[in-house]
Amino acid sequence: MNDSTPRVAIVTGAGRGIGAAVAQRLAQDGLRVAVLDRDLPSAEKVAAAIVEAGGQAAAVESDVTTSESVTQAVAQVDDVLGPPAVLVNNAGLIRDNLFFKMPLEDWTAVMDVHLNGSFLMTSAVQPHMSAARWGRIVNISSTSALGNRGQANYAAAKAGLQGFTKTLAIELGRFNITANAVAPGFIATGMTAATAQRMGMSFEDFKQSASAEIPVGRVGEPEDVAHTISFLVSEGAGFVSGQVIYVAGGPRV
Ligand SMILES: NC(=O)c1ccc[n+]([C@@H]2O[C@H](COP(=O)([O-])OP(=O)(O)OC[C@H]3O[C@@H](n4cnc5c(N)ncnc54)[C@H](O)[C@@H]3O)[C@@H](O)[C@H]2O)c1
Repeated sequence: MNDSTPRVAIVTGAGRGIGAAVAQRLAQDGLRVAVLDRDLPSAEKVAAAIVEAGGQAAAVESDVTTSESVTQAVAQVDDVLGPPAVLVNNAGLIRDNLFFKMPLEDWTAVMDVHLNGSFLMTSAVQPHMSAARWGRIVNISSTSALGNRGQANYAAAKAGLQGFTKTLAIELGRFNITANAVAPGFIATGMTAATAQRMGMSFEDFKQSASAEIPVGRVGEPEDVAHTISFLVSEGAGFVSGQVIYVAGGPRV
C-alpha cells in the first residue's frame, strides 16, 4: 500500500441505523468501506448508496457471533477491498426485561452479539493491522454501561466493551493501533423506534420525552455518532487511545 491508497474500514451492523451512517461517513472521508451485516439485502442497499454517491464500498454478509462466518467475511474484505485497517464494532441488539424476569437466552443473546461479536471481529482483523503497523478500532458502547433499568444484559455487555477497549489500547498500542469506545445516548434509529413500540408509545412522543432529559434538548441522530467515529479513525487521532467518548448531548442521560 502506498500513501495514496485509501484505507479499508469494516463497519459491523452497517445495514441500518448508526452503522449505516458510519459507513456512509467513512466513505465520504475517502475510505473503502465494507458494509457488514447479517442482513445482506440491507447491507447491499447501503453499499449501493455509497457507490452511487461516488464512494467505494462492498456489502458483506456475516453473523458476528459465528467464528467461521467472521473469518470468511474478513477474508472476503481483504480480497475485494484490501486489508482492513479500521474496524467499527457496531452490530447490536437489545433484549430488554427487568432482571427478575430475564431469561438466560436473552442474557446470552446480548453477550453473543456485543461481546463475542466484537472479540471475534477484532481477532480476525487485528493481524492485518499489526502487519501494517497501523490500525483503528472503535467499539460502540452506550450510556447504558452506567446502569439502566430493564437492561441488565445490555448494560453488562456495554460496560464490558469499555474494559475490552482499554485493554486492546494497552496491548496493541505498540503496533500503532488505537482502540476507543464511543458511548451514545438516545439515538433515533430502528432500535429506539422498536423500544417505543414495545412501550406502547409513538416514536415522536418517545423522542420528545427523551429530549426533555437531554441537556442539548434533542435526541441524537446516527450522524452525531458517525462524526465522532470519523475523528477517532482519522490519521491525526493516533495519540487518542483507550478512551470512552460519550455522545449523548450531555455528560449523562
Ligand atoms: N440507538 C441508540 O439509541 C443506541 C444508543 C447507544 C448504543 N447503541 C448501539 O449502537 C449500535 C447500533 O445501534 P442501532 O440503534 O443502529 O441499531 P439497529 O437495530 O438500528 O441496527 C443494528 C444492526 O446490527 C445488525 N446486527 C445485529 N446482530 C448482528 C449480528 N449478529 N451480526 C451482524 N449484524 C448484526 C442488524 O441487522 C442491524 O442492521 C448497537 O451496538 C447499539 O447497541 C445504540
